[in-house]
Amino acid sequence: MKKKKAYNVAVVGAKGAVGHEMIRILEERKFPVKEFRLFGSARSAGQTVKFRGENYTIRELKFCKEEFKGIDIILSSPGASISKKFAPFALEAGAVIVDNTSAFRMDPKVPLVVPEINGKEIKKHRGIIANPNCSAIIMLMAVAPLHKKNRVRRLICSTYQSVSGAGAKAMEELKDQTAEYLKQWNVPDSEKKLTKKVFSHQIAFNLFSHNASIEENGYNGEELKMIAESRKILGDSKMRMTTTCIRVPVFRAHSETIYLEFEKKMSVEEARAILGKAPGVKLVDDRKTNYFPMPIEASGKDNVLVGRIREDLSAKNSLALFVAGDQLRKGAALNAVQIAEVLIA
Ligand SMILES: NC(=O)c1ccc[n+]([C@@H]2O[C@H](COP(=O)([O-])OP(=O)(O)OC[C@H]3O[C@@H](n4cnc5c(N)ncnc54)[C@H](OP(=O)(O)O)[C@@H]3O)[C@@H](O)[C@H]2O)c1
Repeated sequence: MKKKKAYNVAVVGAKGAVGHEMIRILEERKFPVKEFRLFGSARSAGQTVKFRGENYTIRELKFCKEEFKGIDIILSSPGASISKKFAPFALEAGAVIVDNTSAFRMDPKVPLVVPEINGKEIKKHRGIIANPNCSAIIMLMAVAPLHKKNRVRRLICSTYQSVSGAGAKAMEELKDQTAEYLKQWNVPDSEKKLTKKVFSHQIAFNLFSHNASIEENGYNGEELKMIAESRKILGDSKMRMTTTCIRVPVFRAHSETIYLEFEKKMSVEEARAILGKAPGVKLVDDRKTNYFPMPIEASGKDNVLVGRIREDLSAKNSLALFVAGDQLRKGAALNAVQIAEVLIA
């Protein structure tokens, strides 16, 4: 990208959970923004958003080249179908898109990037850079530094995913259902009346298999994304992986248990030393006080918390870990802004 003092930036999906966070992070990290253009659907058009002390009005996104005239970088998170629809116009207008949706992630021509892991891929872009699935990013922040030292040949991951991973409306649903549940404290669970708009199952005081649809092989879409995208990011198509994704009643930050089988032995001490130095990772691993990663402590933070590092007693050359990371930040908005920072560096 041509070096400039400041860049014309657009955010598509500005009112969404990720969009809101991208705007905050651009401000926090003092991204050099000149013109700032915000897009949403007709629902949020006309609403204002504060950025660096000024109010910006959200425009309804129109699918034409003129919308993006003069824009250098688009940070996009409006859902995959909308990204696919507006991208050709944005590219025609000469903008570079950093897209948070699943629309382009597995396109071989599109780099799928976590800057700490494969930031070098960014320069290969042809107008679009994809931000990976949030659970994959959080898992790989812990796995990639270990894998670089000693190849992981098999990975087993189970997730405990917060509701904000399903967007702003899902956070409202957990808040509202929690209040409704407590109001009906003395009513048996099977008779409680709770409003369900986003999830088909009760999320307050419950958990369930991730809401992504189930494919023919029995895995859900989220689980398959984690596998396919991780292999692409690590450049290791042969890594054996299995995942189970679960939605839990946590507002923000995903947690994950991870089992890793290495080519050669990796000791707990070696893993701790590697992760202790890994960028974007913070060790929270105090066995004495039973203090390990928690989503509440990962919320609003940039680092992915890693702990419970121990030998897996059931398999040779294997370790177990537990991680928690804010999927709206490192799993989405922060990662996207970091990609934009590399673009202008
Ligand atoms: N939430 C996460 O943790 C996370 C992490 C990684 C990736 N992602 C991906 O990021 C995307 C957004 O997720 P989210 O959680 O931010 O969802 P969200 O809170 O539901 O926000 C989606 C936003 O997209 C906007 N939108 C919908 N239709 C549009 C249109 N025709 N034109 C312009 N904007 C439109 C909506 O605008 P209005 O408000 O105006 O209707 C809404 O603000 C999804 O593809 C998701 O898979 C999410």
